[in-house]
Amino acid sequence: MIINGKDLASQIESEIREEIKTIGIPKLVAIVVGADEGTKSYMRSIQKVGEKLGIEVELVDLPKESSTDEVRNVISGLSSQKDGIIVGRPFPLHIDEQQIIASILPEKDVDCLHPINLGLLFLGTPRFSPCTPQAVIEILNRTNTTICGKKVTIVGRSNIVGKPLAMMLSKRGVDATVTVCHTKTQNLSVHTRNADILIAAAGYPCLINAEMVKSGAIVIDVGVNLKDGKLVGDVNFPDVEPKASLITPVPGGVGPITTRILMKNVLLAKRLSSKI
Ligand SMILES: NC(=O)c1ccc[n+]([C@@H]2O[C@H](COP(=O)([O-])OP(=O)(O)OC[C@H]3O[C@@H](n4cnc5c(N)ncnc54)[C@H](OP(=O)(O)O)[C@@H]3O)[C@@H](O)[C@H]2O)c1
Repeated sequence: MIINGKDLASQIESEIREEIKTIGIPKLVAIVVGADEGTKSYMRSIQKVGEKLGIEVELVDLPKESSTDEVRNVISGLSSQKDGIIVGRPFPLHIDEQQIIASILPEKDVDCLHPINLGLLFLGTPRFSPCTPQAVIEILNRTNTTICGKKVTIVGRSNIVGKPLAMMLSKRGVDATVTVCHTKTQNLSVHTRNADILIAAAGYPCLINAEMVKSGAIVIDVGVNLKDGKLVGDVNFPDVEPKASLITPVPGGVGPITTRILMKNVLLAKRLSSKI
């Protein structure tokens, strides 16, 4: 079965609309520094989703020659006015990304990048959930997939997807047995074929083919790649789909859910800020 990310996203939207009735309009600011078209377009899509849901999203587009200190000053200036702050990455090379992230108040770090928030996640007591990993977990939960005791293979170990997702899936109470693969993994297909749930987050177009997938596996494709002018995932979809019991397409799978999880985090930040 093909998982329709847009349907799941609209379920989450209804939950968000209901919550806004109680807590009022949350405010998010998205800051980009000399961003490429891809990052700007991602931020515009966040703004569009926010508008649709009644969440205020301000885009701040700083010139590419801005210094690390200038960006930090903008962040601290906006901190008191906004519930949530996100920054567009990658930054220009002269910018110290870790300093920028550390300058976001942890209570407003709705992308869950701050070391304190990652530390809380590591300890199993998260404040925010990182958006893309949480989107994967929402897909599994909302399709009534049993995770406990399942063998999960994640292809990719980045700080924003693979690593936090491994942490979240192996947490006590979620209880998957997780294997994390990367570019130095020997015999990748041995690990992917072993998986009850295979998660591709490599950023490598059509890396996963049918021979690499166990029959009846659940396949979640996080990858977003441009190939021959078309958006494709890390999974060769037409090849793998007949073999999978559940599979997400690209586009229209994980992506729409990720942006709704971000909005859920903005709501949480608003609730936290009213307690500060
Ligand atoms: N749908 C969404 O909401 C969403 C959100 C975020 C990202 N994405 C997409 O997800 C993909 C991954 O993003 P990211 O930020 O995690 O990327 P990243 O920082 O480039 O990390 C990619 C990871 O995959 C591993 N990898 C790359 N090629 C591989 C291969 N051939 N075999 C095995 N492992 C391989 C890398 O291994 P090494 O560590 O050894 O280099 C690395 O750990 C991208 O396509 C991105 O656009 C989608």
